Amino acid sequence: MLVAPSLLAADFGNLEREMQWFNQSKADLLHLDVMDGVFVPNISFGFPVLKHVARLCTKPLDVHLMIVEPQKFIREVADLGARYMNVHYEALTHHHRVLQQIREAGMKPAITLCPSTPVELLSDIICDVDMVLLMSVNPGFGGQKFIPQTLEKVKRLRKLITESGSQAVIEIDGGVNMETGRQLAEAGADVLVAGSFVFGSNDPSDRVDALKALS
Ligand code: DX5
Ligand code: ZN
Repeated sequence: MLVAPSLLAADFGNLEREMQWFNQSKADLLHLDVMDGVFVPNISFGFPVLKHVARLCTKPLDVHLMIVEPQKFIREVADLGARYMNVHYEALTHHHRVLQQIREAGMKPAITLCPSTPVELLSDIICDVDMVLLMSVNPGFGGQKFIPQTLEKVKRLRKLITESGSQAVIEIDGGVNMETGRQLAEAGADVLVAGSFVFGSNDPSDRVDALKALS
């Protein structure tokens, strides 16, 4: 299992220290949650903080934009050196165009679905994305309870990916812990985002190891 700890649950007063354990851990990606107070009812952090974190981080960045008009920030996200740029399906009209622009900017295009958005809507763009991120909570806050219907969605998405020949990986975000992580691994998830479960622990590296061991 690939694991992407979410910085949203980190101690922002000690970012250097947080990035120190993170860089030494077995985590695969750093998940960065950008919120604008419009697409979601919360505001997190913006580019000044992202640039600082990008300098401190030695692992690939997975930038999750919970904002309206994410296409306006493709250049800024690319300049961070991000590997994945995750844009919400619900925030876009011209999905195909934006995914292409993300790829042209040198990043892997990723599309995110809110819990109520069916995976079947992706059938005509599934071969244009390198990742599908399924939200397993309503986006906007860390520490929420996992929505169990996500497990069924993962199975339907896995089928869509297999049948289409897409290379997309399946990432899940929200309420991930050992129990939900195990269920998600069984359902077919490839990448688990974990905020409070990892950063809320006295031994975050150990939590990363435990999630990574799921298969
Ligand atoms: C929620 C964010 C998540 C969040 C997950 O809107 O997209 O990435 O950090 O937090 P946990 O793992 O605590 O549910
Ligand atoms: Zn996220």
